Amino acid sequence: MNNRPIAVFDSGVGGLPYLERLRKYAPAEDFVYFADRGNFPYGEKTDAVLREIIVQSVGKFVEATDPKLMLIACNTASVVALEELRRQYDIPFIGVVPAVKPAAELSKQRSIGVLATRRTVEDPYTENLISRFAADCRVLRYAGVEIVQMVELNYFSSTEEERAAILQPAVDFFSSQTVDALVVGCTHFIFVEELLHKMLKGSVEIIDSREGVAQQALRVLEEAHLFRHGKNGISNSTSNSRLFVSGNDLSYREDERYHQFSKMFKLEWSGRL
Ligand code: DGL
Repeated sequence: MNNRPIAVFDSGVGGLPYLERLRKYAPAEDFVYFADRGNFPYGEKTDAVLREIIVQSVGKFVEATDPKLMLIACNTASVVALEELRRQYDIPFIGVVPAVKPAAELSKQRSIGVLATRRTVEDPYTENLISRFAADCRVLRYAGVEIVQMVELNYFSSTEEERAAILQPAVDFFSSQTVDALVVGCTHFIFVEELLHKMLKGSVEIIDSREGVAQQALRVLEEAHLFRHGKNGISNSTSNSRLFVSGNDLSYREDERYHQFSKMFKLEWSGRL
């Protein structure tokens, strides 16, 4: 039973840094990753459409890989569909939502930023997080639509200058507002977190949820007696992590990109679902 894989799900490559973090603590586990790139971008779709897409895609993934736990490594999918997924599938789900609470705990200026997709920025779930955990803070939200596209489609083909140009409007927005803690509320943005930090001149604490989410997944596995123990450390083998993608009509060039990502994160390319 506990040798079933741990599943990680996102609309694209955003969940890969989460898989990497979890694998560091659980090197004896097997992992499967699904990039639902055929339905990318999630962040520009409406609630109802998105919920249906996610339930279907997760269903395909569950059927193909029979995981013991699934990490929805996508803020947009988590705020929109986590409850529905828990209703429909009989496995434990861990979600990823904007780290508003730790940001509010850290902010001295009581002024925090949330950089996410349009869906996440506008969703009542985020509104609710803010009123629960950051009621005494000014919370500035910015939808980084172009940033999501750049990371998913042009991460390898862009220069640092080109990436910086795409980040610039968000950087200008937050630095003009004395924000001192910035929530990276879209998993894709982790790929440009260092650059963001540099552009904000180190004056803003950047917060993502990788560590908290990895620890939460480990706790859930332990409590359910599903955790396969092994020595901590980054596994160098690709054999314990497999990558699946969706989207039959995507070009060879897109496959190429995914081959590059699978190399970068040490995943074995396992084709389309
Ligand atoms: N990675 C996803 C998130 O964390 C969103 C990307 C998309 O718009 O598909 O919100």
